Amino acid sequence: PENAPVIRTGYSGGAQVDKITISTLNRMKAAGEKITVITSYDASFTQQVEKAGMDVILVGDSLGMVVQGHESTLPVTVSEMVYHTANVMRVSERSLVIADMPFMSHGTPKQALDTAGRLMKEGGAHMVKIEGGAPQLETVRHLTARAVPVCGHLGLMPQSIHQLGAYRVQGRGDHEGERILKDAVGLQDAGVQMLVLECVPALLAEEITKALDIPVIGIGAGVETDGQVLVLYDMLGVTMQGTPSFVRDFLAEEGTVQAALSAYVEAVRTKTFPAKEHTFT
Ligand code: KIV
Repeated sequence: PENAPVIRTGYSGGAQVDKITISTLNRMKAAGEKITVITSYDASFTQQVEKAGMDVILVGDSLGMVVQGHESTLPVTVSEMVYHTANVMRVSERSLVIADMPFMSHGTPKQALDTAGRLMKEGGAHMVKIEGGAPQLETVRHLTARAVPVCGHLGLMPQSIHQLGAYRVQGRGDHEGERILKDAVGLQDAGVQMLVLECVPALLAEEITKALDIPVIGIGAGVETDGQVLVLYDMLGVTMQGTPSFVRDFLAEEGTVQAALSAYVEAVRTKTFPAKEHTFT
């Protein structure tokens, strides 16, 4: 009938799809198959991302910068993360969806559990991501013992920008590299099931990837991690502050958003992205 409500379906049009789970990602790591990850914050982009066959969607607190126009990720609230996660989940059918725990929402294990509960129960996320190493171990143990799947985040941690002073490569030098490796092993022992490594030298990222049993996803961390993640707006060239050196503008090369996403998936799977010019030494 003409006035029938529009029923939103995902990219599959209602067909049966095999969902990506943490077991799928563990199997991919064991088989040496690269894992594809991208950020997404809304329904329309999520539909295109899923159509491209992306394994994992990260509802990153980078939305504070690319969607909201803040200078950093710090102002993002838990309610905003829940809102964007729910927008993504409304159309997501196959990808595993991770939601970021924003700044000052995980200061104590109890606060972190409240935040994770909202992201999973109201937002629908499958996993939460938390920045930090040794100081987060107690919190990670608290969450994972209560059936909250957790992804760690080491290297450049954007929530620490005012301590760091600038967004720059981390882990250069033996001492720093050893500390990040130790944090990575500690997080895995505490129960994280995945790890994001941001802006670290490629050799360090490779060493950490080999040392861990869980999937390690890199951004600005070279080609030898188990998978890659990029901020969606960066790989489409929609940037307000210039494109970071570790990003490739796939939209400029491909012409449409759908083709750009498919080209990214293919480039990660075939290890043609990241190339040397996107890599820190
Ligand atoms: O918030 C985010 O988008 C992230 C990625 C940069 C990994 O944490």
